[in-house]
Amino acid sequence: MGDQMTETEYILEESLDPEDWEAMRALGHRMLDDMLDHAKSLREHPVWQHASQDVKEHFSGAAPLDPQPPEEIYKEYLKFIFPFTLGLNHPRFWGWVGGTGTVMGALAEMLATSTNAVSGAFSYISPNYVEIQVVDWFKELLGYPTSASGVLTSGCSASNLIGLAVARNSKAVYDLRREGLSAAPQLMTLYSSQEAHSSVNKAVELLGLGGDSLRSVPVNDDMQIDLGELEEIIANDRQNGHLPFCVVGVAGTTNTGAIDDLNSLADICQRENLWFHVDGAFGAWAAIAPESKHLVAGMERADSLAFDLHKWMYLPYPIGCVLVKSEEDHRRTFSLVPTYLAHGEGERGLTGVDVPWVSDYSFVLSRGFPALKAWMTIKEQGVRKYRRIIQQNIDQANYLAALVTSQPELELALPVSLNVVCFRFVKDGLDSKGLDQVNKQIEIEMQEQGIATVSTVSIKGKNYLHAAITNHRSRREDFDLLVREVVRIGQGLFHEINGIGNDGG
Ligand SMILES: Cc1ncc(COP(=O)(O)O)c(C=O)c1O
Repeated sequence: MGDQMTETEYILEESLDPEDWEAMRALGHRMLDDMLDHAKSLREHPVWQHASQDVKEHFSGAAPLDPQPPEEIYKEYLKFIFPFTLGLNHPRFWGWVGGTGTVMGALAEMLATSTNAVSGAFSYISPNYVEIQVVDWFKELLGYPTSASGVLTSGCSASNLIGLAVARNSKAVYDLRREGLSAAPQLMTLYSSQEAHSSVNKAVELLGLGGDSLRSVPVNDDMQIDLGELEEIIANDRQNGHLPFCVVGVAGTTNTGAIDDLNSLADICQRENLWFHVDGAFGAWAAIAPESKHLVAGMERADSLAFDLHKWMYLPYPIGCVLVKSEEDHRRTFSLVPTYLAHGEGERGLTGVDVPWVSDYSFVLSRGFPALKAWMTIKEQGVRKYRRIIQQNIDQANYLAALVTSQPELELALPVSLNVVCFRFVKDGLDSKGLDQVNKQIEIEMQEQGIATVSTVSIKGKNYLHAAITNHRSRREDFDLLVREVVRIGQGLFHEINGIGNDGG
């Protein structure tokens, strides 16, 4: 042995691995069984359950100093966490614009985290190839050229921020990245409709452009950006010495699912030398349904396209994507390579010449392996089925709209343009304030009773119930039930509050 240390001379070192591998294996199997049983029986459960004060109070107290047995932690999860999630995976969740998740996607997440995989950086690792392949699939499906660049993101808010950052830097008339906005010779202005998502406003603020530089353009009767008004506002800004640089078109607004006239916006941008960014958070996916793809015609002409995979592609949260037509513009906005992140040098090793890094196209460096759930689910289902399910949701929206129209006590806000239905309970004798209150209360009752989750939106100053159908588990019978229950709850509330908000007094 001489001077060599024997094994017994090493100090005792610890790790975070299970102390009892067999017990952990049994617990893991149980978790998986519970997970699959629940997914299979979702219809038998309420969409949502109100977490009580006890539940809230359970999550207080200091960080645990000592270990707790894994079985006990799982029991705590089952009691205090599992029953009280939002219910996005339920067949009758249609509030805001959610997504449903897939079983294969959940399993893929487990696999991705089991190797603590990262993607989007380093070379000669498969996760990068998976990510590149899924982004290529999105280009193909959404009509984008293969030469475009793209990255997976945490969602459409991040995608809008990235797309607009590239727009800002590429259209600036000086080196904005180096000199900053304080060196701008002119106010840089951009345009979106009043119905655009708040993440566009936030992106503009975060980019230092100032909220007012985003001109909020009125909409027409179909809730699309008013093209005449847009052109007038652009002309006015030019006359005032400003620099219009970008138009944001929306493929599927959050409120009503309205799709801007994307071809006309592309024409205006071409004529005016403006960047054309499309927020297609969910609506972009109409492009893959043969009967509906005409609705988003012109989207493929965008300079940058932001969309989600956790909404209408049904993948488990979080996952979105942004595509940029000019790879060079995209890279010029984000690439910054200190020596400790040097890559693309040499033929071999983890930093060799292989694939681009996500940090050259985003503000993000470290992230997990979001592509795996997309890759595994899309392979499991196939694009043909996705096409049918997207169309199924659009058909369901029209089915729901027809049900609403056939009910004297319900009123449709406006014709359905995609997969969003906005409607309300109406009753003679209730003034507009009373109607707003009743419909808000219907939303709450539906949620509290666990029947269905719809949200409310304000359209032209009136409250409407809002069902955004991005749900692969919904069936027509679910919409029959929704309509029945809205009428039942509405009538009950009407009787209860009769006299409050009643024109007749
Ligand atoms: C049109 C639109 N854009 C952007 C977003 C933001 O997307 P995310 O929640 O994935 O960040 C949403 C969310 O509902 C949306 O509807």
